[in-house]
Amino acid sequence: MDLYEYQAKHLFGKHGVPVVPGAVCETPDAARLAARRIGGTTVVKAQVKTGGRGKAGGVKLAKDEDEASARAADILGMDIKGHTVHKVLVTQAAEIAEEYYVSFLLDRANRAFLAMASVEGGMEIEQVAVEKPEALAKVRVDALEGCSPAKAAEIVAAARFPAEVADQVADVLVKLWDVLVLEDATLVEVNPLVRTPDGRILALDGKVTLDGNAHFRHASHADLVDVAASDPIELRAKALDLNYVKLDGEVGIIGNGAGLVMSTLDVVAYAGEEFGGVRPANFLDIGGGASAEVMSNGLDIVLNDPSVRSVFVNVFGGITSCVEVANGVKFAIQILADAGKPVDKPIVCRIDGNRAEEGRAILLEAAIPGVELVETMDEAARRVAELAAAGK
Ligand SMILES: Nc1ncnc2c1ncn2[C@@H]1O[C@H](COP(=O)(O)OP(=O)(O)O)[C@@H](O)[C@H]1O
Ligand SMILES: [Mg+2]
Repeated sequence: MDLYEYQAKHLFGKHGVPVVPGAVCETPDAARLAARRIGGTTVVKAQVKTGGRGKAGGVKLAKDEDEASARAADILGMDIKGHTVHKVLVTQAAEIAEEYYVSFLLDRANRAFLAMASVEGGMEIEQVAVEKPEALAKVRVDALEGCSPAKAAEIVAAARFPAEVADQVADVLVKLWDVLVLEDATLVEVNPLVRTPDGRILALDGKVTLDGNAHFRHASHADLVDVAASDPIELRAKALDLNYVKLDGEVGIIGNGAGLVMSTLDVVAYAGEEFGGVRPANFLDIGGGASAEVMSNGLDIVLNDPSVRSVFVNVFGGITSCVEVANGVKFAIQILADAGKPVDKPIVCRIDGNRAEEGRAILLEAAIPGVELVETMDEAARRVAELAAAGK
């Protein structure tokens, strides 16, 4: 999970990385109050999860509270590389003598961490890496040894930081390593880390990616999830413990097992080409037990997406028998009807595997309007794509 700059800096502050005071605001009035509280010149910064905000006009100086309010009004609602700005960070303006770059990231290929540092920060580091690779120091950091003061000094030397800031930068590196390890992050980046004319080192920007697999260790990280920016259907699916990912197409997909669902997406996309480019609308893995409850939750989630025109239920009975699956589909439709959400889009079922014949017989006998049974996965994909195209 990527964090916003203000969240990243909050973690920086918690671990002693020097940052300037600031407040996150959602309205120009709030920005005015924040600027008044901070005093002096402030910087109003768009909070979006993408870099290059400065270049895009999303980072502006404000000399007083009137300007802070005006700049916030300009920036709120702006579109930066496809991200709408809903929040700004109003923060103290720092005087900048030099801009540096430092980061730690998980280096999967080398089964270690990688520290990167450069005295040419500020601009996009990818550009430095391409145009002046010698200006970007890369130092391997062993996962168990971590970034000791000696390792930090090695990184500082490799990047040729000026002697007068060497100790301070090394100290910041050790603290950033704490952020990485103690918060279970896979990336911690500061660009720019600046030297002020009076010789202080400050982190003016921050990027942190947290490792989702470690969320259970950090109760406080739940607050960092951006509920407003998440897809509402994905949030509901998560609450129901279903693996759902929203896609752009028209065919709702429900399957069991990630591998089967992935290949279902492929066959539907392929079959859809024949019908004007119909595509899968989602990934949904209902897992092992396709009970009526799980199936009705799944159908409910998928049908909640207004772009869905037809649904493909593709289940292979392994441990779960197809009898359960068929009953699951049957009762799921009943449950939804009882809940006042009758299924009004065609459903194509392909069920195979353990007790397939009996399962199919159940669905055939039930003869539920709008539910079709198709024998093979390819045929079912073709039929569901055809129905989606017809429903447009
Ligand atoms: N608090 C601040 N005080 C002074 N200048 C700042 C401050 N924050 C950012 N800047 C300037 O704006 C530039 C862009 O800001 P930054 O936070 O790095 O956003 P991005 O990387 O998305 O462009 C920085 O390189 C720095 O020169
Ligand atoms: Mg930056």
